[in-house]
This record gives sequence, structure tokens and C-alpha cells, in this order.
Amino acid sequence: MLIKNHWYAIELGNKVGDEPVQVRVHGHDLVLWRSNDGTVNAQSDLCIHRGASLGGGLVVDGCVQCPYHGWRFDSDGVCVEIPANKAGLPIPKKARVDSYPCVERYGFVWAFLGDQPADDRPPLTELAGLDHSTEARAEGYRAVFGEFTWQASYDRVLENAVDIAHTPFVHSGTFGNADEPEIQDFDLDEVREGGVLRQVSATVLLNPPAPSGFWKVLRKNAERPLVKTTTGFYPPNVSMLIVRLPLGEIRIFAAAVPIDEHTTVSKFIMMRTFFTGGWADKDSIKRTTKIFLEDQPTVEGQRPELLPFDLSAELHVKSDAIQLAYRRWRQEQIDAGLGIPTPTDVQARRSVAVIPSPARSADPELANAWVFPAVGDQAKAQSDRTEHMDGDVS
Ligand code: FES
Ligand SMILES: [Fe+2]
Repeated sequence: MLIKNHWYAIELGNKVGDEPVQVRVHGHDLVLWRSNDGTVNAQSDLCIHRGASLGGGLVVDGCVQCPYHGWRFDSDGVCVEIPANKAGLPIPKKARVDSYPCVERYGFVWAFLGDQPADDRPPLTELAGLDHSTEARAEGYRAVFGEFTWQASYDRVLENAVDIAHTPFVHSGTFGNADEPEIQDFDLDEVREGGVLRQVSATVLLNPPAPSGFWKVLRKNAERPLVKTTTGFYPPNVSMLIVRLPLGEIRIFAAAVPIDEHTTVSKFIMMRTFFTGGWADKDSIKRTTKIFLEDQPTVEGQRPELLPFDLSAELHVKSDAIQLAYRRWRQEQIDAGLGIPTPTDVQARRSVAVIPSPARSADPELANAWVFPAVGDQAKAQSDRTEHMDGDVS
């Protein structure tokens, strides 16, 4: 289920170069490409001519060019050239693809997926302590980027990222301590703006891992400071982890990008205040990936695969407060009618429907100027058809 009308971090900025890039979100294919001034555009990846992937095309003269018959679409998604047509022939009004508001910030590409008009749209997510540049930047930090693929749904992945009580067990080999698994009581820190939930986090003191081998002898009686750790999420799909080690601080921001219902790619930015030379970058990526690898078997094994909607379907305890905040937020969104079903493989083979873009509701003149239906409209059209057929039978 895609929750529409939110800013989703869907790609790392450094992945979008001179050529278009395809990103799948909840079973919907989007194309990302850069205009001549370097800004990133996010559009429906389906060419409205014969459904070819614009992601397989080129960027030419400030447009994305379809690889099949060379139609060109500008940064508003409007087709400006049909090469096979005789010069001077007008371009049909329907020759346009959905274009989503798109911003590059903190190293992520953010796309506003939905049709909410600009005035009502929530502001872009603000990641803790980072400046507003297109790179991931904060004074004294060095950033690295990476990604990790899970065979699991994105909400299971997101919940795992903010789950405090699993650390002593799943990460006992790295930063958890299975001998001291108790989690102190913590307060939820919720940030709301104009009633909109922007961030949920909590800070706890975790027991450091027990020293082993050589360190065990050396540090037997040494005092081991507790590790002040902050974790939380920015709706809809970014998690945050801040770990304050004696050596310095680590921050991991991970966008759980829902490819489809059973595949998620975590696109992450890891920042550190120690060993800030480029020589330590590879090791930083390796260590972050190791954390995901430790989580992977458990997260991929969770059943049901999709996070239940009924809160009583699983048992919660005090230390699950952040995940519960996420589940409540998701339910509120669905109750507000913002849930869009992810197309199944069979549906996707038969027909296409796209995430509606703001132009669909902003401009009444364009109300019928769309080749592909919006996801919700497709469901409605199908039920209308069924009703019609039922009527015919009776
Ligand atoms: S399918 Fe894109 S131009 Fe024909
Ligand atoms: Fe974990």
C-alpha cells in the first residue's frame, strides 16, 4: 500500500547522472533525469505512446527522449516532439506523462508522490542536523552512501530500523549486548507541524557489547560507558539512527524504498565524526552493510510479510513505542483515504495505472488529457464496469 501525498526519498542523488534512471516505487515505475540546470525531474516512466520505459532512453536538449520512437518530454512531462510526425502537425494534448514535484536534498532525491496542490502540500522532510544542500553535509562529518536490498516489505524494513529491543540479540556480535537486554523506559519525541507528523524519535542508553578476546582481559575492570543512541523515523519512509560512541558519532539515514510488496531497497547515508579521511570510506560502508546483513534473515523471515493493519494482530510491549507510532500514523493516512494499493504482478501485466500527479487536479482543462488512468480511478472504473455487468445480467 502506497500512502500518497507525501515526500518520498526514492534515490541517492549521486545515482542520477547524465542518463535517465528508472526507480520502481510500490510497483510504479518512475524515471529520474536531470534538466540542463542540474535539477532532477521525477516522472511516470511509461511512455504514453506504446508504454516503453523512458528510463531506457536519453536526455536530449533538456528533455527525456523515449528509446522506442524518440518522443521527447519536457520537465513538466509534456511531449514537445514526435519525430515521425510531419513538421507543423500539432502534438495531441494527451501526449503528456505525470510529473511529480522533485527536490534533491541531503544526498537524496525526494519525489512528492500524489496529486495534492502546492499550497496544501507538506514541506519537505528536515533531517536532523544536516544542512539543506544537495549533498549530505554537516560540520565535522564525513558522509558515505550505499544501498541494501531486502526480500521484505518496506514497512517491516522501516520498523526494523527503529526497533530498539532487537539490538542486544540481532546485533550481539557488533554493537548489542545479549547479557544486558533490558531497555530503560524512554519518552517518545514527536515533532508535528500544523498537525502533520514530521518526526518520531527516542533516545536511550544502551549497554555496549561485552569485550571479547584480548579486550576482555584488558578491560575486565574498566568502566564501559553506556551508548547514547537515538532512533526514529520521518514519515513516510526514512529512518534515522544516531549512535554516540566514545570515538565519535555515527548517523545513519536510510530511505526504505518500497520496490514492490516483497522487495525493498534501503538507500542509506552514513555519516561519521571520526576517521573522516576518504581512506576510511570503504570500511564505513562495509560496517553499515554488516548491520543490515545481521538484520536480514530475521526481517525476511517475518510473517505475515505485510505489516498487519490491526494493532491487535501482534503483541506490543513498552519498548515497541516507536513502531507503534509508525503503525498509528499509517492507519491515520489510510483512514484519510490516502492509501493506494500496490498493483499485483498479474494486474501490472494486463493494464497500467499511474500515481496521480498534481497537474491532474490543478488544471481542470487537463482533466481528460491523460492516457493512463490514475491508480484510484482505475479501481473505480473497474468497479463501475463490474456494476454495469451485474446490471446486464439481471
Ligand atoms: S513508445 Fe515511446 S515513443 Fe513510442
Ligand atoms: Fe538491526
